[in-house]
Amino acid sequence: MLLRSRGRGRGYSPLRGAIETALRAAYVGDWPARLWSRITTEVRRVDVTLRAPVNLRIGFASDLHLGPTTPMRTLERAFAILGSAELDVLALGGDYVFLDATRAKARALAALVASVPARAKVAVLGNHDLWTEHALLEDALQSAGVRVLVNDAVEIDGVSLIGLDDPWTGALDAERGLARAASETKIVIAHAPEALPGVAGRVRAMLCGHTHGGHVALPRGRPIVVHGHVGRRFPHGVHDVDGTTLIVSRGLGGIEIPLRTFAPPDVVVLTLRA
Ligand SMILES: [Fe+2]
Repeated sequence: MLLRSRGRGRGYSPLRGAIETALRAAYVGDWPARLWSRITTEVRRVDVTLRAPVNLRIGFASDLHLGPTTPMRTLERAFAILGSAELDVLALGGDYVFLDATRAKARALAALVASVPARAKVAVLGNHDLWTEHALLEDALQSAGVRVLVNDAVEIDGVSLIGLDDPWTGALDAERGLARAASETKIVIAHAPEALPGVAGRVRAMLCGHTHGGHVALPRGRPIVVHGHVGRRFPHGVHDVDGTTLIVSRGLGGIEIPLRTFAPPDVVVLTLRA
């Protein structure tokens, strides 16, 4: 039984270790993913257009959760949507796996990411990544041309893309990320909405996931349980917060509870238009 984090992620409780150990056995053969794929593999494309000094199109996918509860076809659909969206940038919001990072999952991740043409690819890591052997995932992302950002920034066409560490389990340092950004137009990529307080009003937009829109929600997408007070306020969708456009994706995959209700998987296409 594995009762502690195998990565640098904080907050992995013995209870989580016990639950994950039980689920590894219960979900053997990936039957929840196969069951879910029979019901639906629909992925929504959420389009957001923002005024900015430059033109740039950014595709965003989060919470892939490669593992026993996520249909591969859902992920293939999501990356096919992004692959045909004529992106300049592919940005990834973390939580690439559920349960363990394995070599097979790392290969699948690299293939999905490599299938999307884009001039720049950036990624942050999520809590589920940081609790497992995340070096495997980082290597896979890098092999697919991705820069993994930990409180760091890259520049493309006059836009700074700032990737922040996971606010829940990592070492979030918004000041460091912002200090590394050289351009006037700044876009933050973070795993979870809880990164917002450090950057609201200081950047053009922030893209994140983690909430799954509640994963199990009531009709009209009203979540029942969401982690964190910022997440509860903004469980999904597009919001203006002090002049920063916050975009919360519902992400793509499954976790402990394989089925989603009223929280359909989505990818985001963010177009900056001069
Ligand atoms: Fe997460």
